[in-house]
Amino acid sequence: MRNGDPSEPGSGLDYDAELRLHSEALHRAAGVRAHEHVLDIGCGTGQTTRAAARTAQAGGALGVDISAPAIERARELARAEGLGNVTFECADAQVRRFPRERFDLAISRFGTMFFTDPVAAFANIGRALRPSGRLVMMVWQAAEHNEWDVTIRRSLGGPQAPLAVPPPGPDPFSLADPPTTEGILKAAGFGGGAFADVHKPVYYGPDVATALEWVRGFTATSELLRRLEPAAAADALGRLRDALAAHLTDDGVWLDSRAWIITAHRP
Ligand SMILES: C[S@@+](CC[C@H](N)C(=O)[O-])C[C@H]1O[C@@H](n2cnc3c(N)ncnc32)[C@H](O)[C@@H]1O
Repeated sequence: MRNGDPSEPGSGLDYDAELRLHSEALHRAAGVRAHEHVLDIGCGTGQTTRAAARTAQAGGALGVDISAPAIERARELARAEGLGNVTFECADAQVRRFPRERFDLAISRFGTMFFTDPVAAFANIGRALRPSGRLVMMVWQAAEHNEWDVTIRRSLGGPQAPLAVPPPGPDPFSLADPPTTEGILKAAGFGGGAFADVHKPVYYGPDVATALEWVRGFTATSELLRRLEPAAAADALGRLRDALAAHLTDDGVWLDSRAWIITAHRP
């Protein structure tokens, strides 16, 4: 998947580091209360689930992800922190039959853009929420508003294709368009979709080598490189290295990004 594959590509960086400025914004918007039960959709290795559980001291949090290695790691991290009110489950959130009306709040940090049938998936999540329960999710805005995506695709495109065309498959920008996403949520039984702009950069590591290794680990990057002849791939990698170097600051490599925090309610 393009940006957001939580598997560790070996650079030493991880998704929590990349999104260090985004997590706080989502947590604030979610407004978890002490007695609440929280469902974290596509929780990855569970940083947002653990944060919710810490606040929901008299309630708890369940993190769900389709990736078994991510869930294994999430459990390890929660155990290491000694959190007793957080659990994790490896499941497809689109079809998993959650206990009905069990949760006050469903959250997600970039974990809801990959459903094959988003209306069915959000209807399923809605059934797990109690009446007037809320959904608060962070998703990417359109690709052209995300410097990280434009930079990668411009570097990987050649003279014929100034912006490399993303490979088919899961689309991290599938919920970027507010009217389309509002329609999906409405069809799934949610009301009151509100879109808050989150304009914060993503962090790709302390130096250019780390940033390049991290970005090469994105499934889309490696897929686009794989399609090129060896010489063209070497040129593309050189352009990508130069582009990342242009974003090196005293605090490491940062690229601009735009996300939405979408809040909707079950009637
Ligand atoms: C971009 S990552 C975000 C992970 C995590 N929320 C975070 O911020 O670290 C997207 C996650 O969604 C998960 N995912 C994709 N489709 C899913 C589905 N149908 N059900 C559950 N998880 C899913 C992926 O396995 C991946 O961990």
